[in-house]
Amino acid sequence: MRSTGKIILIAASFFSVVSCTNVTEFKKDDTERKIDELLSKMTLEEKIGQMHQISIERNIEKHFTDLQNGNIGSVFNTVNPIMANQIQKVAVEESRLGIPILFARDVIHGFKTIFPIPLGQAATFNPALIQEGARIAAVEASAAGVRWTFAPMMDISRDARWGRIAESCGEDTYLTEKMAEAMVRGFQGDDLSNPASVASCPKHFVGYGAAESGRDYNSTYITERQLRNVYLPPFEAAVKAGAATIMTSFNDNDGIPASGNPFILRTVLRDEWGFDGVVVSDWSSVTEMVSHGFCSDRKDAARKSVNAGVDIEMVSGSFIKHIPDLVGESCIDMNTIDAAVRNILRIKFRLGLFDNPYVNTTLEDSAYYHPNHLAAAKQTAVESVVLLKNEENVLPIRSDKKRIAIVGPLADAQHDQLGTWVFDSEEEKTVTPLNAIRESYGDKYSIIYEPGLTYSRDNNVAGIAKAVNAAKQADIILAFVGEESILSGEAHSLADISLQGKQSQLLAELSKTGKPLVTVIMAGRPLTIENDLNVSDALMYAWHPGTMGGEAIADLLFGECSPSGKLPVTFPRMVGQIPIYYNRNNTGRPARGTETLIHEIPLKAGQTSLGCNSYWLDAGYDELFPFGYGLSYTKFNYDSLNISSDRFSENDTVKVNFTLENIGDFEGTEIVQLYVQDKVGSVTRPIKELKRFDRITLSPGEKQNINFSLPVKELAFWNLDMEKVVEPGDFVLMVGPNSKDLMTKKFVVE
Ligand code: GLC
Repeated sequence: MRSTGKIILIAASFFSVVSCTNVTEFKKDDTERKIDELLSKMTLEEKIGQMHQISIERNIEKHFTDLQNGNIGSVFNTVNPIMANQIQKVAVEESRLGIPILFARDVIHGFKTIFPIPLGQAATFNPALIQEGARIAAVEASAAGVRWTFAPMMDISRDARWGRIAESCGEDTYLTEKMAEAMVRGFQGDDLSNPASVASCPKHFVGYGAAESGRDYNSTYITERQLRNVYLPPFEAAVKAGAATIMTSFNDNDGIPASGNPFILRTVLRDEWGFDGVVVSDWSSVTEMVSHGFCSDRKDAARKSVNAGVDIEMVSGSFIKHIPDLVGESCIDMNTIDAAVRNILRIKFRLGLFDNPYVNTTLEDSAYYHPNHLAAAKQTAVESVVLLKNEENVLPIRSDKKRIAIVGPLADAQHDQLGTWVFDSEEEKTVTPLNAIRESYGDKYSIIYEPGLTYSRDNNVAGIAKAVNAAKQADIILAFVGEESILSGEAHSLADISLQGKQSQLLAELSKTGKPLVTVIMAGRPLTIENDLNVSDALMYAWHPGTMGGEAIADLLFGECSPSGKLPVTFPRMVGQIPIYYNRNNTGRPARGTETLIHEIPLKAGQTSLGCNSYWLDAGYDELFPFGYGLSYTKFNYDSLNISSDRFSENDTVKVNFTLENIGDFEGTEIVQLYVQDKVGSVTRPIKELKRFDRITLSPGEKQNINFSLPVKELAFWNLDMEKVVEPGDFVLMVGPNSKDLMTKKFVVE
């Protein structure tokens, strides 16, 4: 380990000669020099060791020999700082070159303090808040020795059957881009060498969310143009935000598994975007290329993967076993190995691991569940909840509703409320709606609690009668239903996304009491809830809201704050409508909204009598709720949309102005949204695309001028010639509260 004295001495002499070089440039060049110097000393085995990642949770001694031989480059799932330091000590002090180990963990939406699932975080449309949450996750995870998280997940998700939609930021490219940048900056902080900074890992590169039929790990068939216009931009934004690593995805796209795809890993990621970080495979995604039928055996998988551009193999062990022979047989060039190892060493230098390889083991108690962390998690949960219905303003709960029946299997579900991808949080820290309402409102209201069902899949209806009786004694019913967390996330695809078990029956029985029924759904995906919505007077969608979800929901229900969340993903009426998303193409025969539905079709109707438009006879055409939809306790009026001109050149900026007024009785925050349609293109274009959004808080009666600037260059897309250009022609600019209720203005790009 080099003393800082030498570095200062070099820095002083360097500056005396070339005083204009700024420190960043100096550090970067200096890092490259250090990499060269170290690489020149490494044997092939030591180089390959850096490319090998294993999971170590316990029994670390059995790995000491490999660590001493430099056969392990990174470790994940070690979340005990003392254990991490024991592993690090062997690597740094007992191996020939002392290259430090990089410790990783899946810190997806919090480490100890759990934030809402990313799909819920996206519903806040608040990148600054999300960045703060990622920063907090990094502070807590790094106290455990973690310096690399396998997050953020950036997969555009348009299929609620896919369990991993929970980890995504939803269906929209622009929203996902903004969330990507925020999470990368949050995890990595201002200085990656700060011990509280954690390398980010945007994943899964690329197109995994388009798994056919929503069945996880299934094939995708995304064209290059669709990749470039829809799926790649969030990763490009993450790379531009400084993402240190990228993870390949499980899916084969157009027949090519991501871990063996040089087009995305080299042409796009390295050559076009200039990414100089690390590409890590997903769990055994390298050797799964044999199962894909893309590689003949594990050695072939190692060859294709390394040559395609994977730097680190996660757990499947084909690199460490086969690269020596592959290099000896000239199937892999030594320069390819060196380039991969450079990327790995670069991230380790940037993380400061060579100067500071050990974790401070005294930080855990002060970091975990810090009150500021819990407050941030609560605020994120408050802003993530989407109010979908509020008939006759049954919410917020008025003080005359003295007796409250709390029912449903998610009312007091400390484990399930946290959602998917939670390993390190103590579930007893979770504040559920039941305990929050009892704690904060129990003195002013009488609370009756009867779950009715004991878990979301419960088919035992014996308890429903007790819940109904409790409801009959109450002035208002709060029903908490949804998904257990195990039904969400990886490998948890569902073909039926209605409420599980007898939850819908519970809601229907409760509704028959005639008492106001407020339904709160906690789930990791959109569910088909039209019937449940119809029997509810009000309905809030809380996703899986995390550690402080109960307090957040309670404060919203009782009006301490007004709901502001908006849907980051379209809600289908029926699962058969999937994939369904707002930024779709128009088709040659778009539905007109006057289509004949199945129960209206006369007997012996003539074959073409129903019209020939693009819709479903049984589900109609529209979604249940559109992207961007969400209600408040107050009302907002949009008016006076103006743009700076009706003709623009490519280098101009469209200045947009409109007024927003709070015409209701509550203070509220509105997420205003700006969409643009490119009417005609060299290829068909989506009917609209989100281009701007902002959160505007107004008091009752307050009116505000809202301004957006939209450079025309941001209307560029990858066109027929596979060039990213703005094509001249007619455009429509739209502004409003969601992707459907919009004011419009036309303009032309010359
Ligand atoms: C999983 C996931 C990936 C995760 C990795 C390590 O299979 O696909 O998102 O980071 O393995 O746990």
